[in-house]
Amino acid sequence: MNIPYRSLLMTSLCALIACSPSYDNLEPGQERLSPDEAENTAAMIEAIKAITLQRNPSGLVERFNQVKTLGCFDASFDVPQELESSLQHGIFVPGASYPAQLRFANATQHDDREDDFHGLSIKLHSTPGTALWGQDGQVDFLLNSYPALFAADPGDFRDFIEATRDGKLWRYFVNPSHFYSLGIVVSGREKIDNPFTTRFWSTTPYRHGSDSTSAVKYSVRPCTAEKIRLEIEEHPDFLTDVMHKHLEQSPVCLDFMAQFQTDPKKMPIENAAVIWKESESPFVSLAKIHIAQQPTSETTNDNCESLSFNPWQTLEAHRPLGGINRTRKPIYAEIGRFREQQNQLRTSN
Ligand code: HEM
Repeated sequence: MNIPYRSLLMTSLCALIACSPSYDNLEPGQERLSPDEAENTAAMIEAIKAITLQRNPSGLVERFNQVKTLGCFDASFDVPQELESSLQHGIFVPGASYPAQLRFANATQHDDREDDFHGLSIKLHSTPGTALWGQDGQVDFLLNSYPALFAADPGDFRDFIEATRDGKLWRYFVNPSHFYSLGIVVSGREKIDNPFTTRFWSTTPYRHGSDSTSAVKYSVRPCTAEKIRLEIEEHPDFLTDVMHKHLEQSPVCLDFMAQFQTDPKKMPIENAAVIWKESESPFVSLAKIHIAQQPTSETTNDNCESLSFNPWQTLEAHRPLGGINRTRKPIYAEIGRFREQQNQLRTSN
């Protein structure tokens, strides 16, 4: 079924069975800690380790999410000289240019012809300031190819992961309180024809500056709607070929944008499954990402395998907000370490 029909069907189903997640009742930019967050986080770490070992009984251990690297590129992240003063916070210094690494990935599939979520991980280098986690001088952004996450909060994400670990994913989706998830999964998993022309979203919010009432979501999309014609036969790794062919023909420009929270009820911080409507608050451009024409090969993708990204590898001015982001801090740190240790063990044996 093509995507507009699927979205329409899911929207109608959701209207019938009231499956959209509940909204928050917080002040602008405000977070609400849930009492079971630490327990949910610890349970997710254990379940993710178990799933990782189940899925990778031998050989190199793949990431738990965004498993297949489609392309790994050097880029520059350029803040315009004329950036409006209200947007100038943290790394967004007018005229700044940071060397960047970009990793495009399939969330779960090894065959690029299958429907899937897709991911874009961005690592900036030579950034100013002190990192909230990780190494000073680096800032990471992690984005997904759909504007909402399929899990509203850490509790639902934990239920999903534990059902996956137990091989009983149906258990998660038959629970009426998770019907909204099914809508997002059905609408969001799609086949793409070129990661460079795919749009990505952070789905979770971040601070913008020192004002505690500020919150933004990020999105990345091509600078122009112009499509390049590429004659590529589809095969399990065709998206890598598409990106290489695209770069042979032209450099790539992506727009890095932010959307400000203007209404805490319609644009909640603590519910990552709610799309912040662009009709409420349109995205504004913060920077351009330029990927110059460059040599590309299997090895450049291999180099990306040792990279790890964490949304907390950032500055206080861009502090991750909301329960999903809070739990990601220890989870990515622990799972990144676990993956590295497993891979060292496996390559030394
Ligand atoms: C509680 C919610 C989440 C959990 C538990 C989770 C868990 C993980 C884990 C364990 C990894 C692999 C890390 C590694 O092996 O180094 C990962 C990777 C990734 N996740 Fe998440 N994730 C969550 C939410 C999100 C959200 C909201 C996004 C973005 C919209 C996202 C985007 C990504 C991307 C792009 C990667 C690949 C990073 C890379 O290139 O190394 N995740 N996630």
